[in-house]
Amino acid sequence: MEWMNSSMQEIEPNKISNQEQKEKVAKEVASKAKDGDIIGFGSGSTSYLAAKEIAKRMEEEGLKITAIPTSFEIKALCQELKIPTVSILEAKPDWAFDGADEVSKTDNILIKGRGAALFKEKLNMVNSGITYILVDDSKFVDKLNEKFPIPIEVYPEAISSVKEALLDLGLTECTLRKAEKKDGPVFTENNNVILDAKFVDVYETLEEDIKSITGVIESGLFMDYPVEVLH
Ligand code: A5P
Repeated sequence: MEWMNSSMQEIEPNKISNQEQKEKVAKEVASKAKDGDIIGFGSGSTSYLAAKEIAKRMEEEGLKITAIPTSFEIKALCQELKIPTVSILEAKPDWAFDGADEVSKTDNILIKGRGAALFKEKLNMVNSGITYILVDDSKFVDKLNEKFPIPIEVYPEAISSVKEALLDLGLTECTLRKAEKKDGPVFTENNNVILDAKFVDVYETLEEDIKSITGVIESGLFMDYPVEVLH
């Protein structure tokens, strides 16, 4: 059994919802890749499909692409697909792609972070001229944060103080994200925890108000970034 291949199957998404539409946008974004591009690779099943389409073009057309992955699983996938990777410490992305968990219908505000990779996802996004957001139609909502909570990455010892400060921002529900096959919470790749939060309203400065709380590393609320939503 080959060293990498033995574990790679474990990383593939189990079941991909709305696969046909996700494959369509994955192909569309892959067609934007040009020889020599350094591309920020997002996380989730749609990004997984997009990575595979880019790898296909690299093989068929001899394109040279370098990826800046946003999570362990997408980095492992790149290794499996033979897409070279670098970190954002070494290179600036020419552009990026990523998925989303909710997209507001009117102004492209996003909620991301189901996969707990929101910190690197935002880091790639703020450093890319444009990020293509790849979604199927189920992700569009009239009112953000009604169904899907805003994930907030928090330094573990600051959970209580952060929760208290979030109350001043209109917090209505807050759950520490629990691990599924481990006791206790999910720990992110940065060794922090995730609070899944709902608010009375996603008002104009909510993202920056959350970010200004000591102990908050980043939130999964993405307001006013250079994105183009493909669906
Ligand atoms: C990952 O942390 C999220 O921000 C993803 O972008 C999101 O969960 C999208 O997942 P799918 O592409 O599987 O819907």
